[in-house]
Amino acid sequence: MRMVDLIEKKRDGAELSALEINFIVSGYTSGVIPDYQMSALAMAIFFKDMTERERADLTLAMAYSGETVDLSGIAGVKVDKHSTGGVGDTTTLVLAPLVASLGIPVAKMSGRGLGHTGGTVDKLESVPGFNAEISREAFVDLVNRQQIAVIGQTHDVAPADKKLYALRDVTATVSSIPLIASSIMSKKIAAGADAIVLDVKTGSGAFMKTLDGARELAEAMVRIGNNVGRKTMAIISDMSQPLGFAIGNALEVREAIDTLRGSGPADLEALCIALGCQMVVLAGKAESLAHAEEKLREAIRSGAALEKFRQWLTSQGGDAAVVDNPELLPQARHRFELRAPRTGVVREIVADKIGLAAMLLGAGRATKDSEIDLAVGVVLHKKVGDAVREEETLATIHANRQDVEDVMRMMRESIEISDHACLPELILGEVY
Ligand code: URA
Ligand code: CA
Repeated sequence: MRMVDLIEKKRDGAELSALEINFIVSGYTSGVIPDYQMSALAMAIFFKDMTERERADLTLAMAYSGETVDLSGIAGVKVDKHSTGGVGDTTTLVLAPLVASLGIPVAKMSGRGLGHTGGTVDKLESVPGFNAEISREAFVDLVNRQQIAVIGQTHDVAPADKKLYALRDVTATVSSIPLIASSIMSKKIAAGADAIVLDVKTGSGAFMKTLDGARELAEAMVRIGNNVGRKTMAIISDMSQPLGFAIGNALEVREAIDTLRGSGPADLEALCIALGCQMVVLAGKAESLAHAEEKLREAIRSGAALEKFRQWLTSQGGDAAVVDNPELLPQARHRFELRAPRTGVVREIVADKIGLAAMLLGAGRATKDSEIDLAVGVVLHKKVGDAVREEETLATIHANRQDVEDVMRMMRESIEISDHACLPELILGEVY
């Protein structure tokens, strides 16, 4: 087999066989196939697309290009959740203990990653003592004993994807549905889940800016999952404004605690319940979504979900006293209030700009080696549709520096107040 023939085949719109796809992925991972040939193939895929079968084969080839996580030692149906990323997306911190409190195993492998804030592992590390760098054995053992644990993503999960994603980034081939869908799904499959609930976000703060694009990606990923034997569904959710009030690492831990207690932001709670219902049904712990919702709401009301969160923190070295004393979390030295320039209704809070503001404060990583400041970030006091009076506080900026004019400017530009507003719908679709 020669790579040049396979590039030509795809360039002319033909379908690659499983054997050919395996040849490409293993050759590229080992370095036998050079970047320039892989770039040409990625561009051919960008223009000619891939069939459903090719997408599934590409996903499997990348999933098995490195280490896979063996969760077979954990009893029960392991359901994973994946979000395509947004601003202030605190759902994993809430969902993991909430779902685990119903006896469903949540074996979470999570990255740090780039973005406006850190990933789930970074957020949890704002809890003093918390450690996600545990052994595979300890991880499996914790999930078996208490249904919940998190482990940092190891380097060797889907190395083919890692290499290809970096190449796509510099060859203008990121925004290809078959390549995005296989990239995301390969990592989920390598992480070992039996069933997968996807949260595909749309809007300014999302990877997919339009609803049509988000739906297309959701459908592609759901097909791949189901074609490779993992029960998969997707919820499409709004990311035109940030989720919840808090954007920042420790600030989001605090918000998650509030939500587990039943006093969190309405949108964050609603999305966690919607995603949680799907996870509970896929895990076979409820016959219907309505029944699942009853169980999840009861877990919040009874305190079981919050208790599971405490147990989780403690078992991974974290100080569970933060649950009752959130001031034990890292605190920023300075607070600044952004005030409303006029009376009216909040019409828009542009999510990606708010994310950028959090990043300017140091809440996220610009490059993979940058340090993040766990204490800083933004807390919104108003969301789209809320009425405000002139001079009322719109947001509080938590900073470790004294001059935040750049952040203030960014915030001012991102919040629009008008005479009326349309409420965005939070859940925009479901794909099975
Ligand atoms: N996220 C991924 O993991 N892969 C992509 O290709 C795009 C977004
Ligand atoms: Ca949030």
